[in-house]
Amino acid sequence: MKKLVYILLIWTGVSSCRKDFDLPSYQYRLDTPAHFPEMELPEDNPITPAKIKLGKLLFEDVRLSKNESVSCASCHFSQNAFSDTVAFSVGLYGQNTLRNSPPLFNLGYHPYYFKDGGAPTLEIQVIAPIHNEIEMDMNILEVCDILNTDGDYTRLSQEVFNTEVTPFVVSRSIATYLRTLVSANSRYDRFIEGDESALTSIEKEGLSIFEGKANCVACHSGFDFTNYSFQNNGIHLSYGDLGRRLITGLPEDDAKFKVASLRNLSFTGPYMFDGSLVSLEEVIEHYNSGGMNHTNQSDDVYPLNLTENEKQALLAFLLSLNDDNFVSK
Ligand code: HEC
Ligand code: HEC
Repeated sequence: MKKLVYILLIWTGVSSCRKDFDLPSYQYRLDTPAHFPEMELPEDNPITPAKIKLGKLLFEDVRLSKNESVSCASCHFSQNAFSDTVAFSVGLYGQNTLRNSPPLFNLGYHPYYFKDGGAPTLEIQVIAPIHNEIEMDMNILEVCDILNTDGDYTRLSQEVFNTEVTPFVVSRSIATYLRTLVSANSRYDRFIEGDESALTSIEKEGLSIFEGKANCVACHSGFDFTNYSFQNNGIHLSYGDLGRRLITGLPEDDAKFKVASLRNLSFTGPYMFDGSLVSLEEVIEHYNSGGMNHTNQSDDVYPLNLTENEKQALLAFLLSLNDDNFVSK
């Protein structure tokens, strides 16, 4: 009997290793949605199911922070499209982050990361929060030493990369997991794919205001509702954050931030780099007002003179970009 239990244990252990992938499908997507472009992958980091699994384990592991109190998931909640619910998140020592935690989806399409574009690739971005003194205050080499004492990690790392856990393993795995967080299944997406009935008439009216009178498409264009450029959208007259200028040093980049996607807005508030706009009504009022006229404010932000009905239609359209399946559970 004892022997049988032992054999059973080995058998279930082996079969769960063999089973290719046991993450729920809402947490990743391996195929390219028909109406999305092909995602370009770095040559040294193809996507494999076991690598996604390793990346997800790392994303949720508090041992990536010095006092083992914070994981990536502490600021990027899956039920909030991987954003946080507060203006500034709380790091490992209780200090606030300097910016609002953005949602994480369709990241494989971004040409650079962070609000100021300071990280050129996802693989490099991953290292930043680990070393950031407010967020995780850790060292990637120390992280690897700790994880190499954990058999689950060494086994998976060997299986995927044929080596023990190294900075290469950590950065490639988390970046891969992040690339598979694809959100493409809102009612708007079904509309684009040809289902005319997927949007109500008021939402369709909102879409034409979005593209026309409200001029949102000047910046929020394309399949992910961003042209990824750096813009000042006029939410303040003066900013306590240099934005893109932090990276380039150029005065003309002062207080410019990467244009945000508009998908999943019901789950990602508060809005903007500092979480200063709490509701979508406030966001619409802001753009309708024409902005605060910061020196670098874009010419594409100007008074819109929207009627109450037009504001409501615009709001209804924005809400049709929610992908409930992406955030469910
Ligand atoms: C203490 C909170 C906190 C933790 C922990 C944290 N993040 Fe973040 N994350 C943020 C904030 C705040 C930003 C915005 C920073 C900026 O734009 O300068 C951000 C930005 C990002 C971005 C850029 C998204 C974009 O649109 O450019 C990615 C990707 C990301 N985080 C992934 C991670 C990963 C992976 C981890 C774990 C290794 C992690 N984060 C840990 C708060 C956190
Ligand atoms: C000149 C370019 C530009 C135009 C035009 C523009 N936006 Fe934006 N939008 C941005 C930028 C840049 C950000 C990110 C700002 C930040 O991080 O503080 C943003 C952020 C947002 C956000 C917050 C997203 C988030 O997750 O925090 C919403 C919502 C939004 N815009 C809606 C709209 C709507 C609706 C319109 C049309 C009425 C519009 N925008 C027009 C550039 C623009």
